[in-house]
Amino acid sequence: MRIIAGSARGTRLAPVPKGVRPTADRVRESLFNALGQFFEGGSVLDLYAGTGALGIEALSRGFDRAVFVERDRKVRDVILDNLRRTRISARAEVIGGEVEGVLATLEGRGEAFDLIFADPPYRIAAAEVGGNLHRLRSLLAPGGRVVIESGEAPVEVAGGRKGVTRRYGGTFVTILGRSELTMIVAVCPGSFDPVTTGHLDIIRRACKIFDHVVVAVGANRRKQARLSPVQRARLIEKVTGDVDNVSVEVMEGLLVNFAREQGAQAIVKGLRAVSDFESEFEQAQLNRTMFPELETVFIMASAEHSFLSSSAVREIASLGGDVRGLVPDSILETVTEIYSGRDDKIMGS
Ligand code: PNS
Repeated sequence: MRIIAGSARGTRLAPVPKGVRPTADRVRESLFNALGQFFEGGSVLDLYAGTGALGIEALSRGFDRAVFVERDRKVRDVILDNLRRTRISARAEVIGGEVEGVLATLEGRGEAFDLIFADPPYRIAAAEVGGNLHRLRSLLAPGGRVVIESGEAPVEVAGGRKGVTRRYGGTFVTILGRSELTMIVAVCPGSFDPVTTGHLDIIRRACKIFDHVVVAVGANRRKQARLSPVQRARLIEKVTGDVDNVSVEVMEGLLVNFAREQGAQAIVKGLRAVSDFESEFEQAQLNRTMFPELETVFIMASAEHSFLSSSAVREIASLGGDVRGLVPDSILETVTEIYSGRDDKIMGS
């Protein structure tokens, strides 16, 4: 392995220690070409550094400083050897230990990096890097980039595929900006007695905006629901089965507490006619008093759903009317049976 460009161009690196999978020269070259615009000095953090080839390549190409993190002492010796060979030891720091702990230490020092490489052994890639994303975000300088290498498949960051991913043979390299490292979770609460096509429209639209949406089936104390919260949640699961970034939970107690437990930053609600506004405004204000950081976001109902409500569905069904189009097709039969009162087994359970 050789350094490809910059002050140490052509320098041959020490033999690769057993068990280390270095980033191939070809991948490194393409990666640095892709990163071309970020070479004006700055500092680089090389996690799971292995031979240190990525960080050393960055130093050679003009970065001011690099921190290498490697857990294995013998492998760390190889990094030190490579730094000597390339004559850039003075601009480098090599730290031992587990990545998670070292990240916490660097955060405590108030460090910020312009480029962070995370090239973990493939078997731990997704889970470990994913768990440390919040730390990487706080260590990334404005305008900085995180580069994650992974095998088999591109990493799923913050609830989905983000950033720009390139494939080099069996290696996937994903480059992410700061904003792409945060997962924004929203809670979409309601009684959903039953879930209507209007609700489903709001949930689907929310899923396009947020990284993850937790549909919270609440037990509204003022309303006596026909179905238990679990049964209402199952119906929602059925109609959202094709959406990746949604989950359905039963919510007991206060919405703000539930949102906190879910790590949510927002409550998302559908808003139909003006008549919804007063009660929604009141709830939003009260929730804000209890949890000021939690934003309430309203999505305007589509015109065709603006007069649709669960109570209308219940009434129409109970009087023998057809609720086709008012509830999703996949639950039409179940809803008709339950809410027309024909299915006595489910009633009151
Ligand atoms: O579909 P709904 O009936 O309008 O939903 C109401 C719901 C479940 C969103 C609301 O009752 C709620 O948030 N319940 C949780 C209890 C709570 O936090 N109450 C204080 C809100 S001001």
